[in-house]
Amino acid sequence: MASVLILNGPNLNLLGTREPEIYGSDTLSDLEAACLAHGSGLGIDVECRQSNHEGALLDHLHAARDTHFGVVLNAGAFTHTSIALYDAIVGVELPVIEVHISNVHSREAFRHTSVIAPATVGQICGFGPHSYILAMDALMHRYGPGTG
Ligand code: DQA
Repeated sequence: MASVLILNGPNLNLLGTREPEIYGSDTLSDLEAACLAHGSGLGIDVECRQSNHEGALLDHLHAARDTHFGVVLNAGAFTHTSIALYDAIVGVELPVIEVHISNVHSREAFRHTSVIAPATVGQICGFGPHSYILAMDALMHRYGPGTG
C-alpha cells in the first residue's frame, strides 16, 4: 500500500510538556495517532519516526526513498541550521513538506529562516498538530496514488 513518512526532529518527543503555551498539550503519541488515523481514512500507510539526532534523521530520509511516496518533516531547530538535511532532501528526490506546529514567522527572528525550505515542495506552519494533517492532504492531493 502507498505510504508516507512522518518524521519529527529534536525535542518533539517532549510535546505535551514542552512550552505548552506554544506547542499545545498533545503528546507526540497523540500527534502520531492522529496521523495514523488520518492515513487510514486516506487509504495509505503511515510510518512515524522521531529522533533527536541529525544523522538518524538523515538515515530515515534515505530509507524513505524506497518505501514512501512523500515525507512530512518537522525538523525542529535543525530547520534553521542543517545543510545536511537540505542535502538529504535534495538527494532522495522525494516530495518533502516542511511542517511546524507553531507559526515560526511570528516568533524569534532566528526561526524565520529555514535552510531546508528551498529543498522542500512547501511549508505548512502555525496550525498546531493539524499542520501535519494538512501536509498529509497536500502530499496525497499532489503525489498520492493515481496522481502521477
Ligand atoms: C518547531 C519550530 C522550531 O523553530 C523549533 O525549534 C521546534 C519546533 C515547530 O514545530 O513549531 O523545535 O519546528
